[in-house]
Amino acid sequence: MPEVPTASYDEVPYSDYVFPYTHPASVAAVAALFGMRPADPARCRVLELGCWSGANLIPMACDLPGSEFVGIDLSPRQIDHGRRAVAALGLTNIDLRPGSILDVDDRFGRFDYIVCHGVYSWVPAEVREGILAVCKANLAADGVAYVSYNTYRSAAQGSARARPALSWRFWREPSAPATRSTAVCCGGRQICSTRRPTQTFITTTWRR
Ligand SMILES: C[S@@+](CC[C@H](N)C(=O)[O-])C[C@H]1O[C@@H](n2cnc3c(N)ncnc32)[C@H](O)[C@@H]1O
Repeated sequence: MPEVPTASYDEVPYSDYVFPYTHPASVAAVAALFGMRPADPARCRVLELGCWSGANLIPMACDLPGSEFVGIDLSPRQIDHGRRAVAALGLTNIDLRPGSILDVDDRFGRFDYIVCHGVYSWVPAEVREGILAVCKANLAADGVAYVSYNTYRSAAQGSARARPALSWRFWREPSAPATRSTAVCCGGRQICSTRRPTQTFITTTWRR
């Protein structure tokens, strides 16, 4: 996988997207359906890795004033953009920080939800490993991590029986070429899968 130049995200504007399925209420609902006891979304801590301008986190912060949101992204330009939006909205429960996922350590504290959307497939192996390391080190008890990654089209065309195998493959070979399918896993166990017609992601959710 080619290296992604740090400066590219500062030089080339990227659209602001919102991913409703990363909202803590959505992640909590899926986790609860499978027997987990996730934190109350109304009183939780959320970390987004590769948060871009905070476009995904800022609406959550508006929606859940009793919760705390931290986002980190390598692009200072986009973080500045997001910080201006946070200031304009008068939000005090969100902190957007410029920096690398590899900089996340104990000082960030523990989070009930960790979101990493649209990053895993685009970063070098060192950062992919860093994403998983943060999920391991910074999740609170009963915390849930949501990590998406692009997948080969072939998997989307495969049978339902193929998808658990692909999920397993991801666990064993994180650097394996991407496939196109979607799976949600808890503690390494696949709990559901979905498909989309044109673009799909594998989404893996861990619990501590
Ligand atoms: C394809 S964009 C996805 C942005 C957003 N999460 C989304 O899904 O729309 C990838 C993002 O990852 C960020 N990124 C890449 N490497 C990173 C790193 N090592 N640490 C933090 N952010 C990183 C980029 O700056 C960029 O904002």
